[in-house]
Amino acid sequence: MTDTRRILTVENLKTYFKTPNGIVKAVDGISFHLDKGETLALVGESGCGKSVTAQSILGLIKVPPAKLTGSVVFKGQELVGLSDDKYRDIRGMQISMIFQEPMSAFDPLYTIGQQLMEIAKVHMPWSYQEAKQRIIDSLRLVHIPEPEKRYSEYPHEMSGGMLQRIMIAMALLPSPELIIADEPTTALDVTIQAQVLNLMQELQDSYNGSMIFITHDLGIVAEIADRVHVMYAGKIVEKASVIDLFENPLHPYTKGLLTSRVKREYKKEGKDLPYIKGHVPKASEFSTGCRFHSRCTYATETCKTTMPPEIETEKGHRVACFLFERDDLVENFANAKP
Ligand SMILES: Nc1ncnc2c1ncn2[C@@H]1O[C@H](COP(=O)(O)OP(=O)(O)O)[C@@H](O)[C@H]1O
Ligand SMILES: [Mg+2]
Repeated sequence: MTDTRRILTVENLKTYFKTPNGIVKAVDGISFHLDKGETLALVGESGCGKSVTAQSILGLIKVPPAKLTGSVVFKGQELVGLSDDKYRDIRGMQISMIFQEPMSAFDPLYTIGQQLMEIAKVHMPWSYQEAKQRIIDSLRLVHIPEPEKRYSEYPHEMSGGMLQRIMIAMALLPSPELIIADEPTTALDVTIQAQVLNLMQELQDSYNGSMIFITHDLGIVAEIADRVHVMYAGKIVEKASVIDLFENPLHPYTKGLLTSRVKREYKKEGKDLPYIKGHVPKASEFSTGCRFHSRCTYATETCKTTMPPEIETEKGHRVACFLFERDDLVENFANAKP
């Protein structure tokens, strides 16, 4: 029996790039799922494979030269191996994307109205007049002042914040069942960031859409997501509800991320706390063991050579770390200082 709430199931997804320096295992065997109306946050430092995950789901990775294996099932349909034509019918209509850089989503030669109309024309059964009205309404919804006038203007006539909101209007115009937002607010200043986040949530709630929200900012995660997956060097190292992740982070990397965040807050007050030392290993230089071992205070010989399995510590909370294989170690770890 198929679960009708399940909108997306990703299983053992691997995206490898061949480069002059060797094979880059940007995404290396990740599995997760998403239900209707849910927001899942993917977090991790820069270079962990978050964007490649998004591009892989959206069919934006060119295969070959890249190699993509595993399974991405969207509403019962396997997307891995789908032809470009079929992907185009899904992308922009059933699955929409919002990126960090709004300029890249627009063609400088066409007006805002023309570009939104292009989507409406391809995907929606509306007359021209009806489509135009809906587009203007959608611009109003994202708080674009004078939407009738803006409809006929070009991208370069808008501020970055305005374009970002128009990109959201464009992504949500077809009421997509899945939105993939890749650092959508990173380039915006903090006040506009909050507005845009609220707006995305309002719109998403209005038709019960699902969202994968990619960010390196844990503050945003707390605001927008239901569940969080923490990525490190092409792997998911921890899966939890937002509350569990903040109240009971398990993986040393997650703890490090949370501590770095606290440190930024403290720094403003002139206090000092440790960052996670070291850096993400190069994707062409992974060892066979846990990819975090070189930065981990708890690493043992086993961690250097063996990949830890994903362990469920309680319902909905999973961690890929040997520390959680034995109850006595869990106890020690929970009491350890970060
Ligand atoms: N087209 C590509 N060819 C080769 N390597 C790539 C390509 N795209 C991304 N990578 C590499 O894959 C890794 C993950 O990148 P990315 O998903 O963009 O990270 P994130 O979004 O988490 O910052 C990085 O090491 C990046 O350099
Ligand atoms: Mg990225």
